[in-house]
Amino acid sequence: MRTLVAGCGYVGRRFAEAAARQGDTVSVLRRSATTPPEGCRAIRADLTDPATLADLPEVDAVVFAPTPDVRDEAGYARTYVEGARCLARALSDRSSGARWVHVSSTSVFEVDDGRCVDEKTETPGRGFRAARLLESERVPADLGFATTALRLGGIYGPTRDGVIRRVRAGTAVVRPRYTNRIHRNDAAAIIDHVLGLDAPPPILIGVDRAPVLEAEVLDWVASTLGVAAPRREGEGDPGGKRCSSDQLVGSGFAFAYPSFREGYAALIEAQERLA
Ligand SMILES: NC(=O)c1ccc[n+]([C@@H]2O[C@H](COP(=O)([O-])OP(=O)(O)OC[C@H]3O[C@@H](n4cnc5c(N)ncnc54)[C@H](OP(=O)(O)O)[C@@H]3O)[C@@H](O)[C@H]2O)c1
Repeated sequence: MRTLVAGCGYVGRRFAEAAARQGDTVSVLRRSATTPPEGCRAIRADLTDPATLADLPEVDAVVFAPTPDVRDEAGYARTYVEGARCLARALSDRSSGARWVHVSSTSVFEVDDGRCVDEKTETPGRGFRAARLLESERVPADLGFATTALRLGGIYGPTRDGVIRRVRAGTAVVRPRYTNRIHRNDAAAIIDHVLGLDAPPPILIGVDRAPVLEAEVLDWVASTLGVAAPRREGEGDPGGKRCSSDQLVGSGFAFAYPSFREGYAALIEAQERLA
C-alpha cells in the first residue's frame, strides 16, 4: 500500500513507523524539517498552502492527522477544514478514490451529562470546535475519497503522561465527570486496522473499553504510585460522556491497552525502570 500521512506528529509518526515496517510505501507530510520515521519519505509542505502540495505522490491511502497551531475558531477552520480541502484537491487527480482515515475527535458529540455515545449519536455541531471538525470530516467524502472519520478520545502514552505527573506532584484535581481515552499505540493500530477493512465504516469511535469516572483513574494512579489521592472539586451528577468502542471491537480490533489500567501501568513501570 502507498500511504500519505498528512500531519505526522504523535499518532501519525507511530502509525507511519509501523506501516513502513510492514512493507508499505509511506510518505509523511509536515511543515517542519524533522527526521522522518525510519523507512518513510519526508514531504515538507503546508496543508493549507496548495502551492506546497503540487507534487504529492500517487497514493492508495491517506491518514489526515494535523493539529491546529492555535485552538481558536480560525485555527480550527484553517487546519481542519482548509487543510483537508487543499489536500483532497491536491490528491484528487492522481489518487481519487483512495482510502482516507480522517482523524477526528469524540469532542464532536458535545455530550456533557454522562450519557452513553456511539457512532449513531447525533452531532448538531453547536460549538465551533465540533462544527469545524464535522465540516472537516465531510470534506474528503464529498471529494470522492472512501472516508472513515475516526473519532478518538483523549490520547495518552509515552511523553503524554500529564495525569501521572500531576498525581505524583499532588496537583491533580478530580471533577465529577466521565472520561474516555486511547493509548497512542492503539490509536495508530486502529488506523492500520481501518485501512485493512474490506468495508470501512464512515464513522468510527476510537476509545478504549473503559469509559470511566475521572476519580477512578486518578485514584488508581495515586494508589499505584503510593501517593495521596487527588483533591476533589465540584459535586453532583457526573458530566462528560461514555463513548462506546463496540463497533471497533465488532470489526475485529483487539486493544493492546483495553483500559487506563494497562496503559498507565506500562507508563509507570517504564518510568520506574528509568528512575
Ligand atoms: N490530543 C488528543 O488528545 C486528541 C484527541 C482526539 C483527537 N485528536 C486528533 O488526533 C490527531 C493527531 O493528534 P496528535 O496528538 O498526534 O497531533 P500532533 O502530535 O500535535 O501532530 C500534529 C502534526 O501535524 C502537523 N501539522 C500541523 N499543521 C500542519 C499543516 N498546516 N501542514 C502540515 N502539517 C501540519 C505538525 O507538524 P508541523 O508543525 O511540523 O507542521 C505535527 O506533526 C489530530 O488531528 C488531533 O486533533 C487528538
